[in-house]
Amino acid sequence: MEPVVAVHGGAGKWRIGPDEEARVRKALSDAVSAGLTALARGNAVDAVVEAVAAMEDSGVFNAGVGSVYTISGRVQMDAGVMDGNGKAGAVASVEDVGNPVRLAKYVLENTEHVLVVGDGARELARAAGLLAPRSRFYDDRKNARFGEMKLEASAGRWHYRKVLELAKALGIGDTVGAVARDKDGNLAAATSTGGVWLKLDGRVGDSPIPGAGFWAENGVAAFSATGVGEAIILSMASFRAALLVKSGMAIDRALEEVVGVVTEKFGSDTIGILGIDKTGRVAAAFNTHAMARGWGSGKEVKRIALWRDEIWP
Ligand code: GLY
Repeated sequence: MEPVVAVHGGAGKWRIGPDEEARVRKALSDAVSAGLTALARGNAVDAVVEAVAAMEDSGVFNAGVGSVYTISGRVQMDAGVMDGNGKAGAVASVEDVGNPVRLAKYVLENTEHVLVVGDGARELARAAGLLAPRSRFYDDRKNARFGEMKLEASAGRWHYRKVLELAKALGIGDTVGAVARDKDGNLAAATSTGGVWLKLDGRVGDSPIPGAGFWAENGVAAFSATGVGEAIILSMASFRAALLVKSGMAIDRALEEVVGVVTEKFGSDTIGILGIDKTGRVAAAFNTHAMARGWGSGKEVKRIALWRDEIWP
């Protein structure tokens, strides 16, 4: 079977200039390449983890070193990974971890748990050699944005305690994720995020919740979601998509259906979802202005897209 990997760098407004757009496209292409290299040597789990880790390292997206800040200026990240054979690993609200997706994989491979948080997650990160200096998560651009947003919040332009409205208003959903099918037909999914700007400390989104931010089921499909975590959790978006595909619906229709359900309940600018089915067919759907996405198979990056009207897949 031809190995296939697809990635996303988040759904949102993506108000960016040409230089930033070029950086986003290159980071997506690098992530697809990292996934394809891993697929040539390993399995679908390796592929989604390597693809997501490349995006966490890029600093371009809201994940890993690019993660946004909580209301008190901390960087707290969530990530999850699932093997289509039914095992998952995830971490939530972790700090000082350069690649939360690698820590999620560590949970999957070295514990009998699904989701680890707090001191326990930090200890695992230490054991896995995944702790990174705190300074890596801060830069002048993010510090300036944080200052501006706190001013906007205190001026009453939006109420920062309403996470859903905040995330919609800012149009920031640049969580990252990947799905893959390896040469043996195994599927996998992974998702990683810094969450949403000015979230409460300790707030956890959809990304580390199986069935919400990610899901993989061999013989069916694998999914990774992006958008407003609260809406995605309450819709169980990834599991919902899997049920539709299992019932016989084509993956592109299933994803449109899930986006429709979320839009009806939570409004637009709330979700993007990427998937791959057991035949290796890739699809994505979103109710936002744009969604950063890319895919490849064999040794080739096939397509990178950002805007709605671009050819996809
Ligand atoms: N989808 C990322 C989050 O809401 O945390």
